[in-house]
Amino acid sequence: MGLYPLIRPLFFRLNPERAHRLVFRLVRGASVLPGFYPVERGLFQYRHPVLETRLWGLDFANPVGVAAGFDKDGELVDPLLGLGFSMVEVGTVTPRPQPGNPKPRLFRLEQDQALINRMGFNNQGAYSLASRLSRPRRNPGLVGVNLGKNKDTPLDSAGEDYLIAMHALYDVADYLVVNVSSPNTPGLRLLQGKPSLETLMTLLTGEREKLSAIRGRRVPMLLKVSPDLTPEGLEDVAAVVLAGRVDGVIAANTTLGREGLTSPLAVETGGLSGKPLQDTTLRVVAQLYRLLEGRTPIIGVGGVMDAGDAYRLIRAGASLVQVYSGLVYRGPGLAKQINRGLTALLEKDGLNSVTQAVGLDHQKVLSPPKPSAKKPAGTQPKGERPRPPEQTGEKPAKKPTAKAKKPGKS
Ligand SMILES: Cc1cc2nc3c(=O)[nH]c(=O)nc-3n(C[C@H](O)[C@H](O)[C@H](O)COP(=O)(O)O)c2cc1C
Repeated sequence: MGLYPLIRPLFFRLNPERAHRLVFRLVRGASVLPGFYPVERGLFQYRHPVLETRLWGLDFANPVGVAAGFDKDGELVDPLLGLGFSMVEVGTVTPRPQPGNPKPRLFRLEQDQALINRMGFNNQGAYSLASRLSRPRRNPGLVGVNLGKNKDTPLDSAGEDYLIAMHALYDVADYLVVNVSSPNTPGLRLLQGKPSLETLMTLLTGEREKLSAIRGRRVPMLLKVSPDLTPEGLEDVAAVVLAGRVDGVIAANTTLGREGLTSPLAVETGGLSGKPLQDTTLRVVAQLYRLLEGRTPIIGVGGVMDAGDAYRLIRAGASLVQVYSGLVYRGPGLAKQINRGLTALLEKDGLNSVTQAVGLDHQKVLSPPKPSAKKPAGTQPKGERPRPPEQTGEKPAKKPTAKAKKPGKS
């Protein structure tokens, strides 16, 4: 973890939002210095062929990304990719800029390794983000764009907000996310109810098909859900996803739950993230994987602090994972630490691709393995229903095992 444990107490003395802005200013300043990116990559990147994943026609160098909300306005995409993340999800962005809720609105629950936030989609708006993302980048990697509605847009016009933001950002996004799960925009989570969700996702995926035909590029559309959905609520979400053209699900956003916290700041209003979210996220990912029958990829997010956490989510059904609070608590070496650890865990389990680990804990439950069902490396796990190739993340079966090839650093 390098120097972070030494620097962290200094940042943690500052108010959390101020510390976040300070880091942004420092990194933005440093990133214009000659040699910044090669040095950053040298320090933080970890590459290994077993970590590579192909989903929705996109190549992810590894399964670890930055979750939405960390870089809402796409200011640090390049430096974040340079830290060894395969993707950065920017946003949530709304059509018009908005200031978010009054400060203070971000709280560090240190003894719980958690955060509570009630930011309220503070962002510079879709057009500003689109212009920033259209600039050339120095690092390879993917950028997801997480879309939301403005606070003052009535709920029954929410669809128009998502459409405006989607049009503004379609050309600069590798994937789009429909965020209906933030607890900090009044009423937003009501859009997860079955009839509303069906209407919204039919509207948005329909428009995406049109844009796809016009632009000649189909941008995957994912749905980000709340960890507070009941089992029935998750069933509804899965039914909408399976019946429509939603390409993936991100599970999950922050929770309104407060179980097991010891910090006095637990009383603050807002969404809780970080370590206390781990069990809930794992349960939600596992349930969604079963409901989606392994056919629709899931991105697992919530409480990932190390490689073990990431691996548990992957085995429960996540094809990719994302981090936010982990970055705050574990620092800039987190992607490298997780990716290195994942490589070792895959090797220990005799797997030669991370895609083979996806949903592994369900195999016996979904369908007992048959002796003749042995598949070559990198193909769909036993018990999974066939998925279209762009969703499977499959690579040809010529991959080396985690053991066979030494990791390359760049
Ligand atoms: C300060 C803060 C702001 C966030 N803003 C957003 C956001 O704008 N959109 C979104 O979809 N999720 C947002 N999230 C949720 C994260 O993307 C993630 O789902 C959640 O924090 C759980 O992951 P973690 O435990 O790794 O932090 C935010 C989280 C935090 C802590």
